[in-house]
Amino acid sequence: MTVLAYLLELIDIKSVLLFLSIFLLLFDYIKSKPPKDFPPGPRSLPFIGHLHHLRDFSKAHLQFAKFAEEYGQIFSIRLFGARLVVLNGHKVVREVYVNQGENFADRPSIPLFADIVGDKGLVASNGYAWKQQRRFALHTLRNFGLGKRSLEPSILQECRYLNEAFSNEQGKSFNPQWLINNAVSNIISVLVFGDRFEYTNDDFQSLLKNINAAIILEADIWAQLYNMFPWLLRRVPGPHRKLLSIWDKVITFVRGKIEDHQTDYDPSDPRDYIDCFLGEMEKWKDDDAAGFNLENLCYCTLDLFVAGTETTYTTLYWGLLYMIKYPEIQRKVQEEIDRVVGSSRQPSVADRENMPYTDAVIHETQRFGDIIPLNLARIASKDTQVGDYIIPKGTMVMGTLNSILFDEMEWETPYTFNPGHFLDAEGKFRRKEAFLPFSMGKRVCLGEQLARMELFLFLTSLLQRFSFSAPDGVEPSLDAKAGSTQAPKPYRLCATSR
Ligand code: HEM
Repeated sequence: MTVLAYLLELIDIKSVLLFLSIFLLLFDYIKSKPPKDFPPGPRSLPFIGHLHHLRDFSKAHLQFAKFAEEYGQIFSIRLFGARLVVLNGHKVVREVYVNQGENFADRPSIPLFADIVGDKGLVASNGYAWKQQRRFALHTLRNFGLGKRSLEPSILQECRYLNEAFSNEQGKSFNPQWLINNAVSNIISVLVFGDRFEYTNDDFQSLLKNINAAIILEADIWAQLYNMFPWLLRRVPGPHRKLLSIWDKVITFVRGKIEDHQTDYDPSDPRDYIDCFLGEMEKWKDDDAAGFNLENLCYCTLDLFVAGTETTYTTLYWGLLYMIKYPEIQRKVQEEIDRVVGSSRQPSVADRENMPYTDAVIHETQRFGDIIPLNLARIASKDTQVGDYIIPKGTMVMGTLNSILFDEMEWETPYTFNPGHFLDAEGKFRRKEAFLPFSMGKRVCLGEQLARMELFLFLTSLLQRFSFSAPDGVEPSLDAKAGSTQAPKPYRLCATSR
């Protein structure tokens, strides 16, 4: 009998498993032991941390609100195999994101997204490359009219196409989701690709539907498992494969657009973001770290295209739902449109300052719609004292927007759709510091100006031409569907010409 066979006879399989389990539990316990002065939090389970509380990630903000009641405005949980500090309420998030913003400007690496885009693009990159890319993107979009009036005609033209498509429904009930999605996507598409896409373009519609499906899958338990055990999930089949394959398709679409641009690129006449980037690559060829290369062009374009489509369309989709849910509010917006704009011309951004009620309704739509309840994650780049706690370097931090947009210290009736939140006693528009759907600090949304312009022009143009109502006998539901952004469940409406 060999020595090995003799040993194997001595050790039975049960003992080996028991020893292994104790070893792994001990390892997990030591690894997850919080450092000194770390924010408190609920007890976690070995290996999976708090995943059992967050099976439906799209409802994570509701669970976080409960934890905040029990553990305070700054608490911690274990997620994605790491410790995460969750910040709640306007005061706390502002303290960290703005006052201590320098230490919280970076993004963490989340396995699922790291496998899709790496640390490239605008959303996931950090440091020097992120700074250069963010500056260049803002500068280029501004040159093409973002925040200026020159973009307005292009949005107004899209509003006309959208009105026409709604009119083709002849007052019958329909789901406006894909038309709005396509119309909104066309604005960012013109800026980055130089082209819009017809609403009848099946390939483009299918791309938009795929992105939508990916957003639902991102909140699925499989995506959370992927982030927790990437080494395993990369090797096994499951719904997460569909998610990866969708992003692969979208990336291929963007690459195709870049290749088309390369074939007829004229440096003296840049048509859009892609052309400007191609021009910039020449200037930065001796500075690799700035990220002006074809690979990064693909991911930056992808970020602008997806972030610029999904968010604004979801807000508009909520907006029309609120209009059919609250017809009295819709009527008041229409009265203001009729008084300030009339019916013989299209609305313009310049009208906004004379339309406080409409402006308040759009702000309230963004507050109540709360489309990115958790915000995007950041990471501490230095040990930082926040209140009584220390957040160590490398800790993932989430300043939840839900806790700000529904902060009981900031809003008179947080859980009611109430445009009065943004109106003073004389009916004039009033700004609210806690109105932060675009977040704040160094990573504040790059497309805020564009989104605000689109929301105003699309919504006023639609309400100028149509009255919206729920189909007969249907009570509109404000329930959100699952997904990494919070969108309404698909609904139908009737658009009656005015
Ligand atoms: C209603 C519309 C929109 C909302 C509510 C929204 C919201 C947000 C939020 C909450 C963030 C994360 C900020 C943070 O980490 O603190 C963000 C980032 C970002 N948004 Fe938006 N967004 C909207 C529209 C747009 C549009 C139209 C674009 C395209 C131009 C865009 C491009 C981006 C980009 C590129 C980032 C990443 C910025 C960075 O990491 O430096 N967004 N947005």
